Amino acid sequence: MIGCDIIEVKRVKKLKVPNRVFTLSELEYANKFSNPYVHLAGFFALKEAIIKAMDVPLNISQIEILHDSKGAPIANILVDLKGKYDIQCSISNLDELAMAVAFVQKIE
Ligand SMILES: CC(C)(COP(=O)(O)OP(=O)(O)OC[C@H]1O[C@@H](n2cnc3c(N)ncnc32)[C@H](O)[C@@H]1OP(=O)(O)O)[C@@H](O)C(=O)NCCC(=O)NCCS
Repeated sequence: MIGCDIIEVKRVKKLKVPNRVFTLSELEYANKFSNPYVHLAGFFALKEAIIKAMDVPLNISQIEILHDSKGAPIANILVDLKGKYDIQCSISNLDELAMAVAFVQKIE
């Protein structure tokens, strides 16, 4: 299935407990940039996109976004899913908005 999501960066700025939504690794990655919220918004959008594309229920704190050696996003599911999933994903962000798309296939 495919999922997509778009979010305003200002919504992520208003989060009261960001460490419930973002992992340490995500916060460390975002903090390397002049406006970390833009990157966190991209992660938020991608997590929502993955949730939409999954055939089992997940919540936002059960997904971590990492990056490969080229900088492309990779989804790491933090809970044991019954089965193996291939998750392809993409993020794009602007100063005010971030969006993401996920394509999820159950492979086993
Ligand atoms: C990667 C690239 C296309 C990003 O485009 P951009 O318009 O500057 O930025 P966008 O807001 O659309 O996208 C940013 C997001 O792209 C993703 N990204 C970064 N490098 C990527 C890559 N190599 N492949 C796929 N996605 C990538 C990241 O998720 C990034 O957001 P994050 O760092 O907060 O996670 C651009 O930096 C580029 O042209 N890089 C050089 C060529 C390249 O690596 N191409 C990738 C295909 S080989």
